[in-house]
Amino acid sequence: MPTLVGTGALIGSFLRRLSRQAQEQVARATAVADEALGNVRTVRAFAMEDRQAGAYCAEVDRSSRLNERLGLGIAAFQGLSNMALNGIVLGTIFVGGSLMAGDGLSPGDLMSFLVASQTVQRSMANISILFGQVVRGLSAGARVFEFLTLEPSVALRGGTRIPGHSLLGHICFHNVSFSYPTRPGYEVLRDFSLTLPPCKTVAIVGPSGGGKSTVAALLERFYEPTRGSITLDGRDISSLDPSWLRGQVIGFISQEPVLFGTTIMENIRFGKPGASDAEVYAAAQLANADGFIRSFPEGYGTVVGERGVALSGGQKQRIAIARALVKNPAVLILDEATSALDAESEKVVQEALDRAVSGRTVLVIAHRLSTVRDADLIVVLAQGRVAEAGTHEELVRRRGLYAELIRRQTKEQA
Ligand SMILES: Nc1ncnc2c1ncn2[C@@H]1O[C@H](COP(=O)(O)OP(=O)(O)O)[C@@H](O)[C@H]1O
Ligand SMILES: [Mg+2]
Repeated sequence: MPTLVGTGALIGSFLRRLSRQAQEQVARATAVADEALGNVRTVRAFAMEDRQAGAYCAEVDRSSRLNERLGLGIAAFQGLSNMALNGIVLGTIFVGGSLMAGDGLSPGDLMSFLVASQTVQRSMANISILFGQVVRGLSAGARVFEFLTLEPSVALRGGTRIPGHSLLGHICFHNVSFSYPTRPGYEVLRDFSLTLPPCKTVAIVGPSGGGKSTVAALLERFYEPTRGSITLDGRDISSLDPSWLRGQVIGFISQEPVLFGTTIMENIRFGKPGASDAEVYAAAQLANADGFIRSFPEGYGTVVGERGVALSGGQKQRIAIARALVKNPAVLILDEATSALDAESEKVVQEALDRAVSGRTVLVIAHRLSTVRDADLIVVLAQGRVAEAGTHEELVRRRGLYAELIRRQTKEQA
């Protein structure tokens, strides 16, 4: 019996590993399908349907092979264990029979021993059948629990809040250095220092990949700085409640806004779940969106389609602006908010933004320099450092990087 149990445990651990691999392969196949279906327009646009279907087939085939191997393994395990267990009964009859022939054992004793060993055999056989299900369940459960026990490096809530009436929106980056966790050796920001005075507009410009969006991500606390600190009104933001910071203090508008597949009303209200209809209308007016929304037959009840596909880029962006404005944030971050738009919608959106910035601390990230001329401070970010800072006129006079960028852009436009 101990030999049996020992061998069973050994084969069991092998089967568990196999089952885990099979599970992971199913996840991989699902991810391929998910990505292809989620980006179906891109797949169509490149006529890549067959390739994507092929990639999915390959992953599913691999998954089916692994599952077949797992099934074979479980079958072999159950077959072997059944054989071994029946062998025990057979052995009992054989040994008991010979003992009985030699008068070493009474028929009654043999019978009772046989019944006992058969009971054991049946229970063990049941266990071995259940074992197959346990193996699959364990590896599926292990993956779920792995995710459940993951601790976010930045907790979702917890920490102090600054009362609304005393919140100024004074933001400082103190010698911040940062590398992404996925690329630890590569410093995106190095000794980056910057002050955003309350109710002023600060612009960050610079080459693509220079770390501009990273600055916004750090301010939103999507990541923690590797070194240095960021403060809001003199308090380290790592001591503040992240859900309060993101939900009520900072409004974030990115280059490619993502809307949800519900009505425009609900999309704007996403910024502030308790907002009244009047608040939503006011935010939409501020964002230059009220006009076009009302021109739809269903107005604010228009469903925008999955991720907002039923709207044009400029319309989507204006709804995203309304969504950020409805919470009346003290700090507004605009990460290339107009750069994905055509000239016409850029103008409307820019108008909306110009109105939205008043009375807030604003961080504008832009590569089109014409949109940041009027900022109170312009910072050129290159290689993770502040290369130059000043107003538009000062920087032009300096004839440095900024002047060079301006020169290049006017040449492009000409
Ligand atoms: N999630 C990420 N993981 C690893 N590296 C990243 C990530 N996001 C951005 N990077 C890298 O960080 C650098 C700065 O990126 P980013 O801040 O997006 O630049 P910018 O907005 O100025 O164009 C780039 O070299 C980019 O490759
Ligand atoms: Mg960027």
